[in-house]
Amino acid sequence: MPRYAHIIGWGKYAPANVVTNVDLAKKVDTTDEWIRERTGIAQRHIATEKESTALMAVHAARDAIERADVDPREIDLVIVATATPEYLFPATACLVQSALGAERAGAYDLEAGCSGFVYALATAAAMIRSETFNTIVVIGSETLSRVVDWKDRGTCVLFGDGAGAVVLRGSDAPGGVLASTLGADGSGGELLILPGGGAKHPAGPDTVLSKMHYLKMNGREVYRFATKIMAEAAKQVAARASWSLDQIDLFIPHQANARIIESAAKALKLPPEKIFVNLQNYGNTSAASIPIALCEALAAGKITAGARLILVGFGAGLTWAACAVEWTAAKPGAATLRHRVATGKLRFAWAGIKSLGWQISRHVDAVVSKVIDAVEKKPAAK
Ligand code: ACO
Repeated sequence: MPRYAHIIGWGKYAPANVVTNVDLAKKVDTTDEWIRERTGIAQRHIATEKESTALMAVHAARDAIERADVDPREIDLVIVATATPEYLFPATACLVQSALGAERAGAYDLEAGCSGFVYALATAAAMIRSETFNTIVVIGSETLSRVVDWKDRGTCVLFGDGAGAVVLRGSDAPGGVLASTLGADGSGGELLILPGGGAKHPAGPDTVLSKMHYLKMNGREVYRFATKIMAEAAKQVAARASWSLDQIDLFIPHQANARIIESAAKALKLPPEKIFVNLQNYGNTSAASIPIALCEALAAGKITAGARLILVGFGAGLTWAACAVEWTAAKPGAATLRHRVATGKLRFAWAGIKSLGWQISRHVDAVVSKVIDAVEKKPAAK
């Protein structure tokens, strides 16, 4: 019997701190009009000092897990798609796994630029369909504000911070993530790159002085690539799901630029009511943009049972990815009280305390071991 991977929970997190185009125009040589006209963006959410990729991922994932009515100990795998991880290592996913109390889960990060969430969704669905795992949390989380040069008007106006998550679960019932397509063209890697801080250019005074720790983008070339690939990937995945283009109910594209989305919609002959756009409020949140958009489309009642969705991402790499999803999730609020309590705030708080407890016990263990070693090495007293 074939197995299917259903999205059974979803959640998002956006920092409360909002920066409008007008705010930005006070800091760099730009205008609200230019940004709106060229990109469609009106504002973005920017993380405060206390917020970063792991924390936002945890918030979004908790939201998704509660909605899915799943006990965190049932989770087999946590994947965090991000281009702005908490550290180079350990993986952000490991920090999230611990904070969620997903004690049985494996965890890893996936880096495919703005396509990361769709890459992770496709990968997770394949693992569920092959019966390798049954319950997977897929998160897209980004703190791009930490890697943009706030003096470069060509890039700083485009990006925002946030996180979105889904819970995927296996079932014999048809539906869920039905088809996917993944693509890459590394020859375009230089078009969108953060050159400093990796193995090629390790962080140091030189990399900082030459601003290599900031994102660099050839906007025009990325634009050309995006307008071409978005429609192509959508067509390819629709064909793999055996859908004609007019059977698509909602197209949820990566939220980078309204003009890129309009051009893809035109090529796909999709009317405006079948395209979901929320970039005016968030800017480009990279791997978080599609799961945040999915959450908002659900909240707006644009997705009902049986709806056929196409999710398409593109980004650094260059990469692109698309998934065809037949929506089957129950309405939010259908969770039982028992599970609500089991997966509620108390459980997450306890997971946080336990994680901290393990850290402390590891430190104490190291100190005690050192003391014992020192005592053992002392010459015996006469
Ligand atoms: N305010 C005012 N003027 C600006 C600004 C700004 N914020 N930014 C650039 N300009 C100026 C430029 O200096 C240039 O001036 P010039 O003609 O005097 O030299 C003029 O505007 C036109 O610049 P272009 O770069 O040609 O503008 P374009 O119409 O191409 O729009 C944009 C730029 C919005 C960046 C567009 O190229 C784009 O959206 N590209 C795709 C970017 C994208 O989607 N990136 C994300 C990929 S996903 C990921 O993985 C992160």
